[in-house]
Amino acid sequence: MRLDKFIATVTDLSRTDAKRAIKAGEVTVGGSVAIDAQLEVAADARVELSGRPLRAATARYFMLHKPEGCVCATKDRQHLTVLELLDVDNRESLHIAGRLDIDTTGLVLLTDDGQWSHRITAPKAHCDKTYWLQTAEPIPAETVKQFERGLFLHSEKERLKPAQLELIDAVTARLTISEGKYHQVKRMFGAIGNAVIKLHRERIGALELGALAPGEYRALTAAEIAALAA
Ligand code: URA
Repeated sequence: MRLDKFIATVTDLSRTDAKRAIKAGEVTVGGSVAIDAQLEVAADARVELSGRPLRAATARYFMLHKPEGCVCATKDRQHLTVLELLDVDNRESLHIAGRLDIDTTGLVLLTDDGQWSHRITAPKAHCDKTYWLQTAEPIPAETVKQFERGLFLHSEKERLKPAQLELIDAVTARLTISEGKYHQVKRMFGAIGNAVIKLHRERIGALELGALAPGEYRALTAAEIAALAA
């Protein structure tokens, strides 16, 4: 995190006041005066303001049940954002680890730990995500094999990774994918001439949404944070 942001996060100072204090030589990092507000500091950096040690910024991790109509964005003029559902200090410092479409509901993870979210969203991470879904048309039984082989999607150079489809009834299924391509689930069903009309994310890696009601959120436990980063 940038030094001015770090100070604004862990003190009552605004970002402007933090910059002023840095310029005035009032801030030290690891014992040396730091005059560059853009200096990158680690979450556990030893930062002092006017000789007073500042509490290290500890990373935060939340799960949230995204309701329909709410957007996975930090700002939006028209719609409620997932960040606005969080009643926590300095929520602007959080980011979303794996976005959902406006009409998709379910599990969203928010954190200010970029390394952790990278381990969930990076293509190489192959982190499984499970969705419950309903389609406009019945899903033929052979779709299970098609998805298992890996589909080709328009404008994607490579075949998708194998996906596990479990049919629940004619138009309802559970799908597990290990990638997170743009509108991936809807595009997969589009590619076989069907349309997803309801989509809900139940699980990311080892983490399940559980009993959280739409719009509710909670902090992750240390075990959950560690399990997703494994
Ligand atoms: N796939 C989609 O098409 N939409 C989502 O919101 C998530 C996965």
